Amino acid sequence: MKKMAIVCSGGDVSGMNAALKRFVEYCFRRNIEPWFVYDGYEGLIDDRIERATYASVAGIITRGGTKIGSARSKRFMEEHYRKQAIENLDRRGIGALVVLGGDGSFRGMHKLTQESDLAFCGIPATIDNDIAGTEYCLGVDTALNVIKDAVDAIRDTASSFGRAFVIETMGRECGYLALVSALTGGAEMCLIPELPYDLNAYKRDFLKEKEEGRRYFIAIVSEALNASETVAKWFEEEIGIESRVTVLGHIQRGGVTSVHDRLMASRFVTHAIDALLEGRKNSVICYNDGGFEVKTLNDVALSHYQIPDELLNLGKEFGSNC
Ligand code: F6P
Repeated sequence: MKKMAIVCSGGDVSGMNAALKRFVEYCFRRNIEPWFVYDGYEGLIDDRIERATYASVAGIITRGGTKIGSARSKRFMEEHYRKQAIENLDRRGIGALVVLGGDGSFRGMHKLTQESDLAFCGIPATIDNDIAGTEYCLGVDTALNVIKDAVDAIRDTASSFGRAFVIETMGRECGYLALVSALTGGAEMCLIPELPYDLNAYKRDFLKEKEEGRRYFIAIVSEALNASETVAKWFEEEIGIESRVTVLGHIQRGGVTSVHDRLMASRFVTHAIDALLEGRKNSVICYNDGGFEVKTLNDVALSHYQIPDELLNLGKEFGSNC
């Protein structure tokens, strides 16, 4: 019987538990012994590696986070710690690893595979949706739904009080979460690093709307711009409306996993295990145009993710109505 392990690395996403459940179940179906690596690459180094059973994954499909923990490991950048990690896997006869994480985690794992016979397959999992080569990363849909609920709730108080709310979303350097949330949350303003913006254009628009009776504004601002406080001040000084900032923060990483992410978790994992069984060594499962493909690490790690033009074009309509 072959042995395969799974590890979560980097920022957790809601959908990792659903992926762990599918991993265990599909491993058994394919006659593979499933193993868990706890606490990311830190657990690989420190030998926190255990056999998984059906019982290990019972009841976890709904839960955000990851039952086996995750971490950002600085030590994994050092060769002697990677050697330790390999020894821990070798001792158990584990020759293949599924990695749920971002491209940084995949690059780290690639180093390990160059120094050993280990094969790995990456599953893009980050709420930032910023991995080149795939349209979708696990966890994004749940994060967007958490943001949607927050924006809807903030709208209730914004409209009652007649205030402007600046809502800051996560995403690291990528504006995907902010853009999709602004488009689906009915925001009046959307600021993301991928699109230049002109506050004067917004000002002309907003003053006119205020004159016509608008009582409140919702602005969605990507954390990458570090501009939320400045924009809130701008609302008070230039638009003449009381404002508040809400930084959504880490609630975006948690929450009950959406139907879409549960299904995507299952599909990503199935393709990853199949790819490893077919002998693919260092690959990443990508989702594009409604289907899955197995790509090389270079396809995803060497270029920069770009939000599709069609979506960006929708975003260009913010602040340009005058
Ligand atoms: O990459 C996921 C992410 O949640 C980013 O959106 C955010 O910038 C970062 O991680 C936060 O990192 P930490 O959890 O270490 O504060």
